[in-house]
Amino acid sequence: MEVFTTIKEVRNFCKKSKSMGRSIGLIPTMGALHGGHIALVKKCREENDTTILSIFINPLQFNNKSDLLKYPRNTDKDLEILKKHSVNCIFIPDAKEMYPVPDERVFNFGSLDKRMEGHFRPTHFNGVAKIVSRLLQITDADRAYFGEKDYQQLAIIKHLVKNLNFNTKIVPCPTVREKDGLAMSSRNALLTDEQRRNAAVISEVLKEASKKTGLTVQELKERVCRKINDTPGLEVEYFEIADGETLQPAVYREASENGLVGCIAVKAGEVRLIDNMVF
Ligand code: PAJ
Repeated sequence: MEVFTTIKEVRNFCKKSKSMGRSIGLIPTMGALHGGHIALVKKCREENDTTILSIFINPLQFNNKSDLLKYPRNTDKDLEILKKHSVNCIFIPDAKEMYPVPDERVFNFGSLDKRMEGHFRPTHFNGVAKIVSRLLQITDADRAYFGEKDYQQLAIIKHLVKNLNFNTKIVPCPTVREKDGLAMSSRNALLTDEQRRNAAVISEVLKEASKKTGLTVQELKERVCRKINDTPGLEVEYFEIADGETLQPAVYREASENGLVGCIAVKAGEVRLIDNMVF
């Protein structure tokens, strides 16, 4: 397993792989790896000759300093896990390497980033686009793997790749959950035991609502928010039922050709959890 910290090394590694006719799969991460990341690794290894995973806590996608400082870091353990899963190359740059000069690009995602995460974390997706576009440029990967757990991020990255004509195919991967249904996330490690126990209600309520018939979109939204807000220590930041492609809010349950997705953000104290489910 190669571990690189510079762009030059990764670029050379990728060029060499390509010249040998080996396909490249890329998995961008911010580390503190868990089962969700590992599912991406497994899929990537199945579909590509060379698997590259990047670990970079991208400062430009954080809206506040304390969230960035508190973000879990566990590089030694991450490397151990990745070795076990036979990842070919790990890229762990620092911020100076990734952004030698300020990246002043402003991306336009149309209406995709106006609501939900984009609304509550302004500039977040612009920061995500800056790092993901750089990683795609550096690796020129054939495929890049992203989790459906971050549904709006996935939609924005698909848009970015089309808009900038990247050759990389974006491969969506289903959300991996803990036994009690909580979507795996690096941020789960920041929950107290009580918050962790209570957080299981998020996926329970989403699942129940996704199957419920006979209620309007508005009634479903109220039901989900009430049940979660009634759980001690949890507070819904937003819950939207949106078109699965355009992410525009649904008015009627049956209206969309693209299917509907229920997307939620919940605060458990200072920790922010997101999840979604197809409705
Ligand atoms: P991070 O939160 O580390 O997630 C890296 C990738 O793993 C993302 O594509 C995310 O959707 C996926 N992932 C996380 N939890 C998952 C789960 N429970 N099931 C399936 N996939 C899951 O997302 C980011 O990092 C960053 O924004 C990044 C894309 C790396 C840009 O900095």
